[in-house]
Amino acid sequence: MKKYNLAIAYKWIYDTDFVSLIENIFHKNGLSTYIIHKNNTKEVYGLLKSNELFFDVILDRGSDEDEDFEPIAQLTKELQIKVINDYHLTDLALDKSVLQPKLEKENILVPKTIVLPPLDEEPDDFEIDKISLKSFTKPFIIKPGYYSGGGESINLNAFTIEDVKKQRAFLNDDTFLIQEKIYPKQIFGRRAWFRCFWFFGKIVHTFWDDTTHEYTEISGYEKDNIDFTFIGESMKKLAGISKLDYFSSEFAINKNDEIYLIDYINDQCDMRFKSKHFDGVPDRIVEEFIFAMFEFVKKNIKN
Ligand SMILES: Nc1ncnc2c1ncn2[C@@H]1O[C@H](COP(=O)(O)OP(=O)(O)O)[C@@H](O)[C@H]1O
Ligand SMILES: [Mg+2]
Repeated sequence: MKKYNLAIAYKWIYDTDFVSLIENIFHKNGLSTYIIHKNNTKEVYGLLKSNELFFDVILDRGSDEDEDFEPIAQLTKELQIKVINDYHLTDLALDKSVLQPKLEKENILVPKTIVLPPLDEEPDDFEIDKISLKSFTKPFIIKPGYYSGGGESINLNAFTIEDVKKQRAFLNDDTFLIQEKIYPKQIFGRRAWFRCFWFFGKIVHTFWDDTTHEYTEISGYEKDNIDFTFIGESMKKLAGISKLDYFSSEFAINKNDEIYLIDYINDQCDMRFKSKHFDGVPDRIVEEFIFAMFEFVKKNIKN
């Protein structure tokens, strides 16, 4: 049997640089890697099934994108291969409406929110009428619980019950969050909006402009002058709730210096390099992810 320390399953063309860097760093430091792409999924499945091939760990960025990766994903359970992130954890962790009560219980500060059931389950607007939108500052946000990706599924400038109805009808099988809109203050000439990463126990913060989606590294001086204690504690709690190996979250600080968790948990973080893409992740942070994953894989090597 041939064994590799880390298998990387991926499909997205923009993951190519990221995957090359993983291979570089792993090989330089003595760990082996194996690429699973769309064109070798059947072959890999066969080799795993016949015990000719084995992986200590698999980074799966494929099976959520393409069903060709699905049989391998199924087999990892049977073969007890450690998957980053574990499949059974992601579904719950990514549903904002499922997370909502858990966050409140853990005292993580989130904008005032009400969760509405999917239109399919609660066709009349009884729930919405009951909550009364009166208590929400206008405009407010209406965003889906599970579906992610912005666009028409989210309304960042909602005013009326008609807006809520329209959103629910647009995605009739998803829950919706009605949420107070947070306006970030300015900090060091930027919007006080952060994307924070959890990399296998390590927390990394970066500026992330919510309007342009541009990441900017936080300088040493800025770091010393921003209190990340609350964000760090919240990230630890999110890791505890979700049990994911890696994820990112968005936080914003308003003019009263209140720090809100805005986007709860994203898995499969975008790892395009900032050196190549306007809205890419600072290269150093991509490297930090890889080194953290390296340590994680090392701990999960089976003899
Ligand atoms: N409560 C809010 N206040 C201000 N802006 C928000 C709020 N919620 C979402 N947004 C905006 O909408 C974007 C998408 O919402 P988000 O919660 O991040 O969902 P997704 O999972 O689709 O990324 C955010 O990046 C932010 O720009
Ligand atoms: Mg987001």
